[in-house]
Amino acid sequence: MIRIENLFVAPKEELDEIKKEASSVDKKKSSKYLLWNINIEVGKNEIHSILGKNGSGKSTLAFALMGLDSRIEIKKGKIIFQGKDITTKKPFERARLGLAMAFQEPARFEGLSVEEFLFLSLKLRGQNNFGQNRKKEIEKSLEWVGLEKKFAKRKLDEKLSGGERKRIELASVILMKPKVMILDEPDASLDIIVYNELYDILLKTKERIGCSIILITHREEAGLIADKATLIENGKVVESGPFRKVMRTYCQREGRKERCYEMKVFLRKKSNN
Ligand SMILES: Nc1ncnc2c1ncn2[C@@H]1O[C@H](COP(=O)(O)OP(=O)(O)OP(=O)(O)O)[C@@H](O)[C@H]1O
Ligand SMILES: [Mg+2]
Repeated sequence: MIRIENLFVAPKEELDEIKKEASSVDKKKSSKYLLWNINIEVGKNEIHSILGKNGSGKSTLAFALMGLDSRIEIKKGKIIFQGKDITTKKPFERARLGLAMAFQEPARFEGLSVEEFLFLSLKLRGQNNFGQNRKKEIEKSLEWVGLEKKFAKRKLDEKLSGGERKRIELASVILMKPKVMILDEPDASLDIIVYNELYDILLKTKERIGCSIILITHREEAGLIADKATLIENGKVVESGPFRKVMRTYCQREGRKERCYEMKVFLRKKSNN
């Protein structure tokens, strides 16, 4: 479905005069890669989790996959989506082809209502029809992610809680009916009790739309739904393969052996149910 081949990503080089004048120390710093030689393959209908501690390069990878180049740039390597090289394609072209992303920090648009924001996703999908259908589909998507219909009328501002904004962001991605959803920590800012409700939503969404999911997370519990995982450390892939195997490596490297053992028992119990 999507294949990342020998990808190197660096901070964006600023071409303005000031940057040209920058000291050699700065130049050295800015030429340092954020991601080194990344190789990952995500299959059709696969949930592939990207694991790694803070600052390891997970969000950078998500930005590179979506072609969001305001902070970073791809220096080498390729991104192949459904057999097509999309490395140089613009974000909206990637969206049209079927890639969608929910950000780690969902955007706030002062003045825009949730309904107006979600309508943008329908537009991206090529659905310009106004009226009842639009309203119904938007309300349905809110209910799908566990929010009441009335959220459609709310403003997309700081009055929404972090968890609510994450859910709205997820609804916007689901409305696009993408082929690959990139979700940057959708389980952050959620109560511990509801993360499995979220995983349930993701699993159902995957089945309904028939998409693959790249799930960036810190949670071992993602193993409830993830098929595979890739562990990133300092911008490099440490291991890629079956979720449990990669999670075990992650726990060991982070000195969390006990947590990993608990997880093993938990996942085994789940798969026996
Ligand atoms: N444009 C940039 N210029 C310089 N450094 C950057 C740039 N973008 C990201 N970084 C650095 O690259 C590293 C990886 O950042 P990234 O946001 O990808 O981490 P992450 O794995 O998503 O972490 P978290 O779990 O905290 O979200 C961090 O040290 C970050 O400060
Ligand atoms: Mg991040």
